[in-house]
Amino acid sequence: MKKILVTGGCGFIGAHTVVDLIENGYEVISIDDNSRSSVYLLEGIEKITGKRIKNYKVDLKNFDETLAVFQENEGIDGIIHFAAYKAVGESVSAPLLYYENNLFSLINVLKCVKEFNIPNFVFSSSCTVYGNPDAIPVTESSPEKPAESPYGATKQMGEKIVKDFTIAGKCNAILLRYFNPVGAHPSIQIGELPIGRPQNLVPAITQFAIGKISDMTVYGDDYPTRDGSCVRDYIHVSDIAHAHTLALEFLISNKNNASCEIFNLGSGNGVTVLEAIKAFEKVSGVKLDYKIGPRRPGDVIAIYANNNLATTALGWKVKYDLDDMMRTAWEWELKIKKDEELLKAQNHILN
Ligand code: WQD
Repeated sequence: MKKILVTGGCGFIGAHTVVDLIENGYEVISIDDNSRSSVYLLEGIEKITGKRIKNYKVDLKNFDETLAVFQENEGIDGIIHFAAYKAVGESVSAPLLYYENNLFSLINVLKCVKEFNIPNFVFSSSCTVYGNPDAIPVTESSPEKPAESPYGATKQMGEKIVKDFTIAGKCNAILLRYFNPVGAHPSIQIGELPIGRPQNLVPAITQFAIGKISDMTVYGDDYPTRDGSCVRDYIHVSDIAHAHTLALEFLISNKNNASCEIFNLGSGNGVTVLEAIKAFEKVSGVKLDYKIGPRRPGDVIAIYANNNLATTALGWKVKYDLDDMMRTAWEWELKIKKDEELLKAQNHILN
């Protein structure tokens, strides 16, 4: 059984990928310091797969502690590196936090890859490397633009670090550029757990719909798009997860032509903010009384993926559509509310 180390395995995309790896016969361990994730998702993974994976609660910025995990786990066949901070707005107000966390963590993991001759490495990147593209849909060879935020810059630098590392060493790597991952696993046992007020559109929609937040703003309806709101490529998190398993299989079976290859992970469909809201209202039956506000600084006007490379080379097939994304996101929000009530009830009994 091939052994895969996932960093950030308790996170949104990490947990969904752990499920997909287990379902495809891999042994999985995780390193996640839970600074921005919860072991609650480990329980969800266990409910889905029957497996309770081991998570090492280690800060990847601590090299000695990170090294110790590799020393304890011989024979790792591949690594998927998710662990990073990802809040665009926070990265603007706290750039050093982002450069230190996202880059030091990556470099420490790559030092262990070198130390233990781990042959395969998958890096979690983002469409944010394209900035505001001149032409859409974007392909993997679309020009990179200056990052709109320090978060985006850490993804651009991270890609460069991984590329240079594979040229210098024996490891092969794949960079996966996510578009907008949304939704929840169809079992509704795992999903997104935003910290604080959600910055991203879909969790903002579901928390507004369930009453967790009392207002919701559409950031701008005066863009040069079909309805004035920004265009994005929303992609179900389980589709993103399966692409990671396929990327590892691609490397393990030596199908890669270069030491470092890049794939866009998007549905290939551009959807406006207002269209996404309408889709949610349709599947949930909840009318959203949002307001229109000013544009959000740093927002890209329109971007969506040409995903032909991932569908042909990796054999990746996008399974879930926008309605599935909204439905699973809503059902997950309803489940958390029920669990919170359950927890409150339990606490009530305990107190
Ligand atoms: C989407 C659209 C907002 C909230 C970022 C990162 C990207 C990835 C996903 C990590 C925009 C609008 C949002 C709200 C709104 N992060 N919006 N009201 O900015 O495309 O991508 O998150 O992997 O790397 O850059 O996603 O969901 O924040 O915004 O109108 O309350 O929804 O203005 O047009 P974004 P988003």
